[in-house]
Amino acid sequence: MSWEQELSAKAAMINESLDRCLPGADSHPASIHQAMRYSIFAGGKRLRGAFVLAAAAALGRPQAPLLPAAAALEMIHAYSLIHDDLPAMDNDDLRRGKPTCHRVYGEAMAILAGDALLTLAFTTLYSLHPAGFDAGAVARVIGEVAGAAGTDGLIGGQVVDLESEGRAIDPQQLEYIHLHKTAALFAAALRTGAILAGAEQQDLQALTEFGLNFGLAFQITDDILDLTGDEDLLGKPLNSDLTNQKATYPALYGLEQARRLAAVQVNKALQSIDRLGAGAAFMIGAAQHLLDRQS
Ligand code: IPE
Ligand code: IPE
Ligand code: MG
Ligand code: MG
Ligand code: MG
Repeated sequence: MSWEQELSAKAAMINESLDRCLPGADSHPASIHQAMRYSIFAGGKRLRGAFVLAAAAALGRPQAPLLPAAAALEMIHAYSLIHDDLPAMDNDDLRRGKPTCHRVYGEAMAILAGDALLTLAFTTLYSLHPAGFDAGAVARVIGEVAGAAGTDGLIGGQVVDLESEGRAIDPQQLEYIHLHKTAALFAAALRTGAILAGAEQQDLQALTEFGLNFGLAFQITDDILDLTGDEDLLGKPLNSDLTNQKATYPALYGLEQARRLAAVQVNKALQSIDRLGAGAAFMIGAAQHLLDRQS
């Protein structure tokens, strides 16, 4: 199986799990459940969920029992996108090739749909315990994922991203933004899979470093695609970062140097998982495909 086929097989399983975990579109109050389902099922590569599964696979464990955890990480990611697109934040009208949640359901419902996906993620992670996972491992995952989503993670990155609009910032601040708003959730996804698989400390550390290096490279390529991508393939508006005067790698370093820095991060990511060998094939493939991604 090619890496792309591997990703789409994982995405199909994650989509089925999401369908099981989300309240039905008709269940009361239907408006919020429709808004949540609209954004979750609008598309998306499912990379964070796939990393949950791949981390367990790298440690020789079956993936299927981890599907609710993969779904939970995708719920947090989808919430972050709904809120990121709001007029008060990046003010974007297109996401995953469709009108953004607030364009279809209004701002109030989009805010609540994001809140609901974030909270449902934790209910879903908790459900791993009655399904047979060790209570200590589940509690640790819940604590770590909450930390990665919070002000020392994704939200912290989003805050500094917003506060840096239109301002000159230095390389350290820019790295802070990207590591927190994006890389923290990738690292948390890998740690979730690894902790639930009973990983030893050195493997956990290797996967964490991979997640942070990969996540930083991923956001640099996202910045590059905002300028150079194809809107139809990307499914979101081009030049959003220019309009919002965002702090990005191309803005600070220029396109060519941004590309070089992304390549450096990809190499660091690959080195971080050396010790996992061929078991980490999915992570290796993800890193190898990153610099050429179109969406
Ligand atoms: C978009 O993430 C937001 C960033 C952190 C750059 P993805 O590019 O993974 O979005 P989907 O899930 O595939 O839509
Ligand atoms: C997104 O960064 C980070 C999130 C936590 C959502 P961007 O604002 O660059 O993401 P896109 O380009 O809108 O997907
Ligand atoms: Mg943003
Ligand atoms: Mg945005
Ligand atoms: Mg972007």
